[in-house]
Amino acid sequence: GRKSCDEKKSLGRVDFPQGFLFGTASSAYQYEGAVREGSRGESMWDTFGRKYPERNCRSNADETVDFYHRYKEDIQRMKDINMDAFRFSISWVRILPCGKLSKGVNKEGIRFYNDLIDELLANGITPLATLFHWDTPQALEEEYGGFLSENIVVDFRDFAKVCFEEFGDRVKLWLTINEPWVYSVGGYDAGRKAPGRASKYMNDAAIAGKSGHEAYIVSHNLLLAHAEAVEAFRSCRNCKDGNIGMAHCPLWYEPYDLACVEDNEAAERAMEFMFGWHMNPTVYGDYPEVMKKIVGKRLPSFTESQSRKLKGSFDFIGINYYSSVYAKNVAEVDPDKPFWRADQHVEWKKQNKAGKAIGAQGGVDWNLMYPQGLRKVLNYAKNKYGNPKFIITENGHCDAYEKKKPKLYELMDMKRTDYHKKHISNLHKAIYEDGVQVDGYFEWSLLDNCEWNCGYEIRYGLFYVDYENGLKRYPKMSAMWFKEFLKKRDEED
Ligand code: BG6
Repeated sequence: GRKSCDEKKSLGRVDFPQGFLFGTASSAYQYEGAVREGSRGESMWDTFGRKYPERNCRSNADETVDFYHRYKEDIQRMKDINMDAFRFSISWVRILPCGKLSKGVNKEGIRFYNDLIDELLANGITPLATLFHWDTPQALEEEYGGFLSENIVVDFRDFAKVCFEEFGDRVKLWLTINEPWVYSVGGYDAGRKAPGRASKYMNDAAIAGKSGHEAYIVSHNLLLAHAEAVEAFRSCRNCKDGNIGMAHCPLWYEPYDLACVEDNEAAERAMEFMFGWHMNPTVYGDYPEVMKKIVGKRLPSFTESQSRKLKGSFDFIGINYYSSVYAKNVAEVDPDKPFWRADQHVEWKKQNKAGKAIGAQGGVDWNLMYPQGLRKVLNYAKNKYGNPKFIITENGHCDAYEKKKPKLYELMDMKRTDYHKKHISNLHKAIYEDGVQVDGYFEWSLLDNCEWNCGYEIRYGLFYVDYENGLKRYPKMSAMWFKEFLKKRDEED
């Protein structure tokens, strides 16, 4: 730490523990493009955009920011702004184009990730690889309904094993699954994300199903797949000195009316439904009690051996934190609400009872800036799950993109800079004042990219991507802020 005469100076990387990693995060579908190159197979997200263009702002990621061809120059950008690490995901269908090991491993896909990893390491950037960032092989969707079927567990385990064996000698940080909550609720409850199944769209004959159960089934299979992958990781010779986890996406819930017991309970219940749902099984081998009580028979149960495998199936907890809301208790459930929302009996509010907004809104409805929420989530999880290790695997601010505004306006991203400054300051307090163990912070994202529902209409990047002019990248003010913040000790003035 610094001496007291330095106290007024703003935080810098030297104020964080030795070896703490600062990086940026990305995913294969959102970054790579080149979907028809390198013998890649088709993923569910490739087809989703064609099937329901209105649910993704009529955009697709066929080219997106072309990271597949430009990763070398982008790694120089990371290096230039003094980043230590990079989180990327491995596209299942680049490795196994048909989703199954028995149908063949794609050498070109292996080569691409080998080259990417080697280039990162040659530039002193630590890789963190996510196995599953939502891009289920289309072939498995068609064969057995993807994660609706327990068949996926074996296929995912095979895919994970190939990745551990091929890349585990150099990649020491792994995530099995990114945000199971978004995958299940987004794809099988609200229906805005692939594969677009939801009670709200039940009138669409093509997708009408037993929607009141599906998100719970999908999450159950995601958890089983996670446990199998972790078991494979722990028996892989290449991975002995590596660490693995899952990335969760808790919002922080503040009670709508602090003085009201029911709203306090609602906030706790909402945390269990959003975070505990996938977290509790990996610590205690079962779903949270409150979910079992409310969801009843629609919530699948674990066998004893599944529960044993899940218990302790992580070395660190990945936290993707963006935003917070107020939780208001709902006694009477609106039958038209997607069932997951209805089940928890909680209404999300941007303002509390006294009319106070939780925070300024970013480019999308749910992106509300409440930096204290990061510290609160970390303390909540520290106390609830036995003081584990954490990595902040995502944290970011988006701007709504307005074509009329000049590029210069996008580059002067004061709000994003302020967002990161404040979240990092809360993270610092969590580590030094509350004793939370955190090993890294990954910002979402290095580049503007194809966002799941808004396509190119919102921007999260530290670098602006000019989609109309050859995908040229320009550093925003936030990139310059990170560069300064991440200066090494001997560069300090
Ligand atoms: C997380 C995802 O949910 O948030 C990222 O892991 C995503 O992949 C990010 O890009 C921003 O979300 P959205 O919905 O604005 O694209």
